Amino acid sequence: MQALATFGTDIGIAFSGAEDVALIEYAHLTGRPYRVFSLDTGRLNAETYQVFDKVEKHYGIHIEYTFPDATAVQEMVRTKGLFSFYTDGHQECCRIRKVQPLRRQLKTLKAWITGQRKDQSPGTRMEVPVVQVDPAFEGVTGGPGSLIKYNPLSNATSAEVWNFIRVMGVPYNALHEQGYVSIGCEPCTKAVLPNQLEREGRWWWEDAKAKECGLHSGNVKNADGSTSQRTADRDLWIEGSVATLSKEQVRDIAAGKREQDTVAVLYAPWCPFCQALEPDFAKLAEELKGSHVSVAKYQADLDREFSNEHLGLKTFPTIVYFPKGKSGFVKYPSERRDVDTLKMWVRSVAGKA
Ligand code: ADX
Ligand code: SF4
Repeated sequence: MQALATFGTDIGIAFSGAEDVALIEYAHLTGRPYRVFSLDTGRLNAETYQVFDKVEKHYGIHIEYTFPDATAVQEMVRTKGLFSFYTDGHQECCRIRKVQPLRRQLKTLKAWITGQRKDQSPGTRMEVPVVQVDPAFEGVTGGPGSLIKYNPLSNATSAEVWNFIRVMGVPYNALHEQGYVSIGCEPCTKAVLPNQLEREGRWWWEDAKAKECGLHSGNVKNADGSTSQRTADRDLWIEGSVATLSKEQVRDIAAGKREQDTVAVLYAPWCPFCQALEPDFAKLAEELKGSHVSVAKYQADLDREFSNEHLGLKTFPTIVYFPKGKSGFVKYPSERRDVDTLKMWVRSVAGKA
């Protein structure tokens, strides 16, 4: 790790207690001194505290634990309760328990090392560079550009990291033996099923775009790279076999007046996840052409209230199946939206619905 040679003790490894333990093994192998810090949110799993302790003993190091501001936590918990993130989103709690302590910790450093990888999320981590000027935080010297961020595992796959951990006998979090892949705080992390995307186990009640806690806020970008949220250069599915539903048609469908089965995407043209869905959903429409299922789109950001209330819209994109002759609908349950999986789902709901 060249970063350690360059920055010495002005660089710190951010260790979350998950498979980013590989970073510590790499640092150890260099034979150089290195610093490790962990953000103790107060809500971590017992297994995470146990692995912190194991790692300290295994490598003979002291982790620099960083804690949230007690008054800020107290204020939040006294007013909103212990689980406010389930109702009003995880941003506030993460800001108090993770981001502010991180900001404080980073002010003692010139550079930091994270375990982010591209393959952790096709939605938000596809562009994680190996090294970058930190787009969100400041280092010890202060001001923009004062902190370097290394993501040395960026191009590594989960399989490679795990191979390394096992071959090198690196201590790991026992939760990994219980189906957990990505690990954060206890109330906000759950195990995932085989082959589910790993970040589906984090803040699972929120949409994929929101699944960054602010530690890596530079990751979440709009399609045009800007921060303005609600503009788009063009509409989606302009050509091809995806039909456009009008407001009136959608009201009829919602009321149960349906000529045929319809699978519809509720989308917003500015949403990067809808944009990413465009080719696969277009292929789905192509492949189902002539069948009894019509494939359609509805621009639901222009009609959000109705869509929330009557079409089950929570986040973009939402894919919904409306069976003919019924008034209910079935929502597509996964964040994996490739054409084969979508087709499989259509076949299964068409059979049951
Ligand atoms: S998060 O933003 O969703 O919480 P994730 O769990 O994927 O991040 O971890 C990515 C990297 O962020 C980790 O490899 C680690 O470098 C850093 N990180 C995340 N959580 C912590 C934590 N509690 N303490 C220290 N570093 C962390
Ligand atoms: Fe709070 Fe959950 Fe964020 Fe942890 S992950 S800081 S418990 S919202």
